[in-house]
Amino acid sequence: MNKPTLQDRAVLKGHGFTRAEEQPESYRASAPEANAGPEPSSTSPQPSAAVRRMKEYHPPLGDRSGLRLDFNENTFACSPRVLDALGRISGGDLTRYPEREPVERSVARHLGLDPAQVLLTNGVDEAIHVLCQTYLDAGTELLLPVPTYTMYEVYASGTPARVVRVPAENGFRFPLGALLNAIAPATRLIAIANPNSPTGQTLAREDLLRVIDAAPHAAVLVDEAYFHFFGETMVDLIGRLPNVIVARTFSKAYGLAGLRLGVLCAPEEQMHWMRRAISPYSVNSVALACLTAALEDEEYLLWYTGEVLAARGDFESALDRLRLPYWPSQANFVLVNIGSRHREFVHSMRTRNVLVRDRSADPGCDGCVRITIGTREQTQQGIAALAESLAEIGWSAAQSGVEA
Ligand SMILES: Cc1ncc(COP(=O)(O)O)c(C=O)c1O
Repeated sequence: MNKPTLQDRAVLKGHGFTRAEEQPESYRASAPEANAGPEPSSTSPQPSAAVRRMKEYHPPLGDRSGLRLDFNENTFACSPRVLDALGRISGGDLTRYPEREPVERSVARHLGLDPAQVLLTNGVDEAIHVLCQTYLDAGTELLLPVPTYTMYEVYASGTPARVVRVPAENGFRFPLGALLNAIAPATRLIAIANPNSPTGQTLAREDLLRVIDAAPHAAVLVDEAYFHFFGETMVDLIGRLPNVIVARTFSKAYGLAGLRLGVLCAPEEQMHWMRRAISPYSVNSVALACLTAALEDEEYLLWYTGEVLAARGDFESALDRLRLPYWPSQANFVLVNIGSRHREFVHSMRTRNVLVRDRSADPGCDGCVRITIGTREQTQQGIAALAESLAEIGWSAAQSGVEA
């Protein structure tokens, strides 16, 4: 199958995708709008302007029993060594405030960095919050290709900075030219998820380097949350280029989303400011005790990522057979284009005990649903449910206007 042709057809058939060049200025957001919320009464405590401005974000976490292909988590389990480490934690251990530094040294060694270049965080979400606090002031801008990970904008909306959104090109290709054009003296932070969510698309190292080079006055975050399913990294540039920052998470391949563990890697000079912005105890001692065990179990990580990569191939082949348009992914999820029946599809999957995530509200993603890839066995279950759900909602390639 010719995948790009399929994607391009999806675009041409009017699934709501926009070309950056068709909207030359519209992505330059105006000053942040107040996000109304309830009107505070004059006699009760008043929320700050920053909090009133913040975008609300409530992930659909209720009742997640079944096969969870909705949040891009590890769908199986963490390493058994992590469970052993948990079992060794004593009551006395929990009485002490957590100490990040010894574990940061292990993580730094693992990444080939200096400990001064590594900061453990309460998930990458906290890392994003810290970056927004560290770099975004009034009169500055966060530059984002969209669609992308929601939390960049959520945390930026709690600062007085503007958010400048650059829409992806056809087929969700990275809008490199438009993003380079959008770099301004006010640009203080650029966030690029590589691979990106929800699209699974990637940006080549030389293109990332063009962005980094064009914005020496901005911190460029390369969010490598899905690194283990892709394999390319910019970590080797930490400290060699003064504005490169890399984030990694333990929520995906390592299966530790519940423990909340992320890592920020940055030049020491920048890290100085981030250490000032972060809460000193935001990574708890249980998570810290488990992290070293997780890092040591290479074998488990290789097994799980091997399962996902094989399953991703199986899943994409099944989509080809079903003639369901999708964007080939380098992450542990695939974005599929269901079209106008996306809600019925998500509901039908749920009745089969398979949870998937409707991404229709993301910019340019009308009709799109994101499906996490788990082990091969789980993916077969997902494929069976998908085929049944498509049949139940009466989806057909011809009817949807998308030909394979
Ligand atoms: C691109 C990206 N970055 C960061 C995160 C959040 O990671 P964490 O669980 O470490 O906060 C996610 C989670 O889905 C993600 O997709």
